[in-house]
Amino acid sequence: MPVLIDEPASVQLIVGAQWGDEGKGKIIDLLSERARMVVRFSGGDNAGHTVVNPHGEFKLHLVPSGIFYPDVTCILGNGVVVNPGSLLAEIDDLHKHGVDAARLFISDRAHLIMPYHLVLDGLEEKRRGAKAIGTTLKGIGPAFTDKVARQGIRAGDLLNKTTLRSRLAELLDLKNAIITRVYGAPALSLDQVYDEYSGYADRLAPRVRQTEIMLHDAIARKEAVLLEGAQGTLLDPDFGTYPYTTSSSPLAGNACIGAGLGPGQIDHVIGVAKAYSTRVGGGPMPTELKDATGELIRERAHEFGATTGRPRRCGWFDAVAVRFAARLNGFSSIALTRLDILDIFPSVKICVAYRAGGKTIDHFPSDTDLLERCEPVYEELHGWQTPTERSRQFGALPAAAQKYVERIEKLIGCPAGIVSVGARREETIVVNPLPA
Ligand code: IMO
Ligand code: MG
Repeated sequence: MPVLIDEPASVQLIVGAQWGDEGKGKIIDLLSERARMVVRFSGGDNAGHTVVNPHGEFKLHLVPSGIFYPDVTCILGNGVVVNPGSLLAEIDDLHKHGVDAARLFISDRAHLIMPYHLVLDGLEEKRRGAKAIGTTLKGIGPAFTDKVARQGIRAGDLLNKTTLRSRLAELLDLKNAIITRVYGAPALSLDQVYDEYSGYADRLAPRVRQTEIMLHDAIARKEAVLLEGAQGTLLDPDFGTYPYTTSSSPLAGNACIGAGLGPGQIDHVIGVAKAYSTRVGGGPMPTELKDATGELIRERAHEFGATTGRPRRCGWFDAVAVRFAARLNGFSSIALTRLDILDIFPSVKICVAYRAGGKTIDHFPSDTDLLERCEPVYEELHGWQTPTERSRQFGALPAAAQKYVERIEKLIGCPAGIVSVGARREETIVVNPLPA
């Protein structure tokens, strides 16, 4: 049985089980109480992790959600791409709200998002036309592309301005050629970009470290560590709905590479899944509801992107997709969030299979066109039509809500360790012992 928060000296990994926006921020904030270190290992400021706690409501994009506890060290690992401007804005905003980010460090191996990445993200999206991915336009794809193409600039380069300038000069030549000659857009100025980043270097240099060593030391001291996932499994470039994906792997396996530890050092993998489905941006989503029910979920849950403000596409829980996520990540348990949103419905549906071309499909297809044609096969359960936000124990939930959670556990093959019934820390049920 996975122990969730009563085992301080462990490494726990928190991963999104759907298309992102599952409520990872709340779960990390909650689990951080017992942690000494929280490490982001993937993505960048395309993430939007909402945390509601006694300090207020925060939408964190880069800063790990453990920042609200003064004795937690927060790390942006090597697997993250960092936009220094947005990071500093976030640090300043936290400071304004009385939250001290002095214990936030950045891996010197983490790649930087540069102004041309933002420009190219926009130009590439425009070029895709009707097939646009619907990216967050934060430059994430172009930055990860440059990392793999070995033409990136890393946080460590902020420590030496001579290197920074010469590296930038060399790369900007190439980027400007693409921007002007392929896209016919205006070139960026070397002096302007350098001056901007030189300013960031002054402010961020003291935070740039070899963070994997800090992580190794914390593990050696048997401190509790949380690895904070961003995005969600179905946005993974390999296993998600390619090409409608993000550009770094949100999967459990990538936590090792993006933070700098081995698989055997991770004790628990917690998948975070919403009690229904959402997706923002393009690409297939079999349970999307383009009707009044979808609208009702969006309104009740305020399903608008934390990063871009776009309305999120909403639909019923997709057990085929989350079972796939449970297997890909090896979840020890899931945290099922936002159960309270379903409180008003006379009946609730769970997608248990897909149908396409007269065939029933019980797995998540790799063929994105096929997935686009898939119709959900639903199982309909009784709703509970009772508020759940005050429930603090699993047994206190309405019987129909308990059945809903238990049915999900059975379908995805993984126990629910946490059930969340509201945004605030206390609106949480730790299911312990776990229901059968
Ligand atoms: P959190 O961490 C939801 C989506 C974008 C787009 C696709 C590619 O809050 O769960 P990108 O800018 O990454 O190149 O966009 O991925 N996307 C997210 N959707 N939550 C996120 O993060 C996301 N990060 C990226 O909407 O469809
Ligand atoms: Mg988000």
